[in-house]
Amino acid sequence: MLLPLLSISTALLSLAGFVQAIPQAIPSRPASSNTPTRAPISLAPAATGTTACNNSPDLCNRNYNNITHMGAHNSAFLRDSATSFSTAGNQFYNASVALSAGIRLLQAQVHLENGVLRLCHTTCGLLDAGLLVDWLGQIKSWMDANVNEVVTIILVNSDNQPAATFGSLFASSGISTYGYTPASTSAATTWPTLQTLIAAKTRLITFIASIDYDTTYPYLLPEFNYVFETAFGVLDINGFNCTLDRPSTQRSATTALSAGYMGMLNHFLDTDQGLGITVPDVGNLTIVNGPSTSVSGALGTQGSQCMTEWGVKPTFILVNFFNVGPAMAVADNLNGIRAVGRTDVSTDVLTASSKSGGSIQNGRSWFGIAGSAMGVIAIGNFVWM
Ligand SMILES: *[C@@H]1O[C@H](CO)[C@@H](O)[C@H](O)[C@H]1NC(C)=O
Ligand SMILES: *[C@@H]1O[C@H](CO)[C@@H](O)[C@H](O)[C@H]1NC(C)=O
Ligand SMILES: *[C@@H]1O[C@H](CO)[C@@H](O)[C@H](O)[C@H]1NC(C)=O
Ligand SMILES: *[C@@H]1O[C@H](CO)[C@@H](O)[C@H](O)[C@H]1NC(C)=O
Repeated sequence: MLLPLLSISTALLSLAGFVQAIPQAIPSRPASSNTPTRAPISLAPAATGTTACNNSPDLCNRNYNNITHMGAHNSAFLRDSATSFSTAGNQFYNASVALSAGIRLLQAQVHLENGVLRLCHTTCGLLDAGLLVDWLGQIKSWMDANVNEVVTIILVNSDNQPAATFGSLFASSGISTYGYTPASTSAATTWPTLQTLIAAKTRLITFIASIDYDTTYPYLLPEFNYVFETAFGVLDINGFNCTLDRPSTQRSATTALSAGYMGMLNHFLDTDQGLGITVPDVGNLTIVNGPSTSVSGALGTQGSQCMTEWGVKPTFILVNFFNVGPAMAVADNLNGIRAVGRTDVSTDVLTASSKSGGSIQNGRSWFGIAGSAMGVIAIGNFVWM
């Protein structure tokens, strides 16, 4: 039973690209929350008079594809008080907090629900993080306030909507103004430097997992024309490697890289709950997201292994619960920088009991969630990854 379910899931996921989340509107936390208060991110550190791009002056003149952009997998799907610490959540902090903490890649999964695009994890009945247009608006606001930052979005088009459906929301949120259109509609070995993108005010790179290129929205890039990925849905802490998993049009990481593709590590671990349902692992998170380059399963280890195997650094990395590890340290090590201008976020694994100053509303247990997702489970199990 498990195997057929998994193959169906895999098929669904390959159609859908893969599962990701996006930040969601949640009520502001009271000041007494356990989250430490932080100063707003500062992008032009007065102390040195040196301008930073993506948190380092050293990155300004580096090509976009020669930088490791740390990403939040399923960035909209939160495990926090607003979702009653939903097991379906992949992050403890929303997109705005993630960006201020140094995350520069936000991944999310988009569904068509009653004629509108929403950020939902597997189904809107399981975890609904709100309207895509609202989330884009939040990212746009952050970019307005942080003018030297280049941000990447990767969306999974779960219901195979045309580029125009996305494009109209990119336009109405206002974020399309930042959209970067590459010279080529296929993979290219040369990308602009961050400084070039910043000067041109085209600081948003958007990939969508399954769209056709549309000349009206040339900044919406079909992901698998540019990006290749390692396996996702890894269930064994020793199961991370640097082998190309998608797209199937590329034979290997080496072939993809020589065709100008950029590599992405899917570095998140799931645990099997039985019945073919998997949920994001938290038990081994500190190791999995950690910077060690010698411990099996650590992000640092996969990062350095792939850099060695590929001969270039991974351009993108996706992790669950980005604050733990902290995962950012791995990107900084790969980029060879000491970052400036970030907002500090706790590296703790948050649980309902670790939080203060808020009540758990509509406590939805794992079983409650599983119950509401039975339909989904019956078709394709997991969905949670
Ligand atoms: C993100 O989380 C922070 C901290 O909890 C909160 O202040 C902010 O309003 C949230 N942003 C959105 C768009 O919900
Ligand atoms: C990538 O960046 C590194 C670090 O600055 C640099 O040494 C290397 O030459 C760059 N590679 C390319 C292809 O530009
Ligand atoms: C987490 O680590 C423990 C102890 O090393 C191991 O038994 C368990 O299988 C790991 N979990 C996963 C999902 O790999
Ligand atoms: C790479 O890892 C994935 C996920 O653990 C696994 O399915 C695949 O067989 C591995 N590939 C190689 C060549 O080891």
